[in-house]
Amino acid sequence: MELKETIKEYQIIVNQELERYRKKEDCPEKVLNEAMAYSLMAGGKRLRPILLLQTYQIFKEDYQKCFPFAVAIEMIHNFSLIHDDLPAIDNDDFRHGKPTNHKMFNEPTAILAGDALLNGAYQVISKDLQNSPKEDLPFKIQAFAELTYAIDRVIAGEYVDTEYEGKEISSEYLEYMHKNKTGEFIKAAVKMGAILAKAKEEEISRLASYAERIGLTFQIRDDILSEIGDKDILGKPVGNDKEKGKCTYVTKYGLEKAEQILEEITDQAVEIAKTFGEKGKFFEDFAIYIKNRNK
Ligand code: IPE
Ligand code: IPE
Ligand code: MG
Ligand code: MG
Repeated sequence: MELKETIKEYQIIVNQELERYRKKEDCPEKVLNEAMAYSLMAGGKRLRPILLLQTYQIFKEDYQKCFPFAVAIEMIHNFSLIHDDLPAIDNDDFRHGKPTNHKMFNEPTAILAGDALLNGAYQVISKDLQNSPKEDLPFKIQAFAELTYAIDRVIAGEYVDTEYEGKEISSEYLEYMHKNKTGEFIKAAVKMGAILAKAKEEEISRLASYAERIGLTFQIRDDILSEIGDKDILGKPVGNDKEKGKCTYVTKYGLEKAEQILEEITDQAVEIAKTFGEKGKFFEDFAIYIKNRNK
């Protein structure tokens, strides 16, 4: 199947799963629940859960077993986006072509909706652990550990991002920031898929080195799109990184060099994907898709 078709098919699957966790009760915090659903169902690409499910399928077929982890990773991703857009962090007004959470609701609601999505993810996983057969538990616990590690890194990366706003950053710290705020979470998606499928250590680490590369290229492409993207396609603002004094691969190296770095790291990722033969095809195509994406 073509990559774009696979992505579309799995977006539908992930969206159906996410819908199952929407809180609909009439209660005093009804608006908070609406704020959670507003961001979660706003039209994200679902790339992290898709990566998790595809990685699992290199090894095993019954990918439905991973749904709680796929849902959790997308909930946490949306927590990070809601908080990233807040006035105290990036102060952005649009995402997915719609007002950001704090613009649509208000700042306290957005902060709490983010918190609730993060905790909601933990609830989904803890429920799954309680209902899992004993033999699966060590793998699920290991996958959960990967997830919590990655969130720790996202938060660290976001800290570096805000701390260096308006300041000169070294290439080393810039790479660190990107690998943490964005890369680790993408790497966790892939590692979790492999761990849940009970892959061998060597396979997990080969996939991790692939994912480390696409995690970095994902953010470099994001930096490039923030400079030359189409805001209507992207659904988020374009051209304001410089104004904000953001440290990006484009502000650090210029557009041409950023594109060259993107190309080089993508090639490395493709080479690693090829070591998985026919089963690596999705990952080869995915690395190229990340490099060329417009959204
Ligand atoms: C946006 O990620 C945030 C970054 C890490 C650059 P995505 O582009 O995957 O977000 P959505 O969910 O598809 O909007
Ligand atoms: C997002 O970084 C990384 C997160 C952890 C949310 P950016 O601030 O560069 O991403 P966008 O452009 O707002 O999606
Ligand atoms: Mg941002
Ligand atoms: Mg940011």
